Amino acid sequence: MSEQQPLVRAVNVIKDFGATRVLHGIDLEVHRGEVVCLLGPSGSGKTTFLRLINQLESLTGGRIWVDGELIGFEERRGRLHVRKDADIARQRSRIGMVFQRFNLFPHMTALENVVEAPVHVRGVRPSRAREEARRLLDLVGLAERADFYPSQLSGGQQQRVAIARALAMEPELMLFDEPTSALDPELVGEVLAVMRDLARDGMTMVVVTHEMSFAREVADRVVFMDAGVVVEEGAPEQVLRRPRHERTQAFLARVRREEQAAEERISAELEQLGE
Ligand SMILES: Nc1ncnc2c1ncn2[C@@H]1O[C@H](COP(=O)(O)OP(=O)(O)O)[C@@H](O)[C@H]1O
Ligand SMILES: [Mg+2]
Repeated sequence: MSEQQPLVRAVNVIKDFGATRVLHGIDLEVHRGEVVCLLGPSGSGKTTFLRLINQLESLTGGRIWVDGELIGFEERRGRLHVRKDADIARQRSRIGMVFQRFNLFPHMTALENVVEAPVHVRGVRPSRAREEARRLLDLVGLAERADFYPSQLSGGQQQRVAIARALAMEPELMLFDEPTSALDPELVGEVLAVMRDLARDGMTMVVVTHEMSFAREVADRVVFMDAGVVVEEGAPEQVLRRPRHERTQAFLARVRREEQAAEERISAELEQLGE
């Protein structure tokens, strides 16, 4: 596989849920080492698109390649054949996904959560997996919390465990679906910092987020989606500061108003605490 070929290539991706079309032909390429931030109003199809890349949903139309390999299907003599479950599992294991909700196993410690998939899915030796899990927990700043249960961790810490757990499968692509939107505002920064480090280390990432400062600082490219189509994409500077389309402008203005309202709420609370 050549280095020039995009790691993810989506062509004319269509998704229907019953009679409702939610993706109307998405084209997107993500290159190795690139960080793409996906923005758009609620209901625009961002989650559905990530779930299609990771084969948590199946395509209605179009194609997605990851690392040059068609996902979900195999092409033989010009015809598409659905891949076998084991083959789909292999393809999925190369992609890490982090959700809004952390979905850690509540009865397992942080370390056990990270060790689980490498041992049970990939057959890594437990001692080896534990060693690697400690390194990953250290990477996300949680070396001291390895033996804590999720209920003993803050939301931000749980989300960092979830990132370590995804990394334990040695993915070549990480998908993040609003990873900080369920967190209290004071915990958002620590999760974004871990993601920033990952990006710096060269991880290929697709990040759905409303965190504009993260998109501005970390993204190589910003893609704005609305109503199941890509409305515009480009460098963060361009899309966030000089959006070409009215829909992008309206969305950004709304996000800014929301950010401002949140800031005002926090400073009002701080003022009250000061009295
Ligand atoms: N499993 C599903 N069944 C039916 N409709 C769905 C399903 N998942 C998502 N949708 C619909 O698809 C559209 C896109 O949703 P989603 O991908 O979650 O958007 P976003 O992540 O941008 O908020 C929405 O109208 C949503 O209601
Ligand atoms: Mg979503």
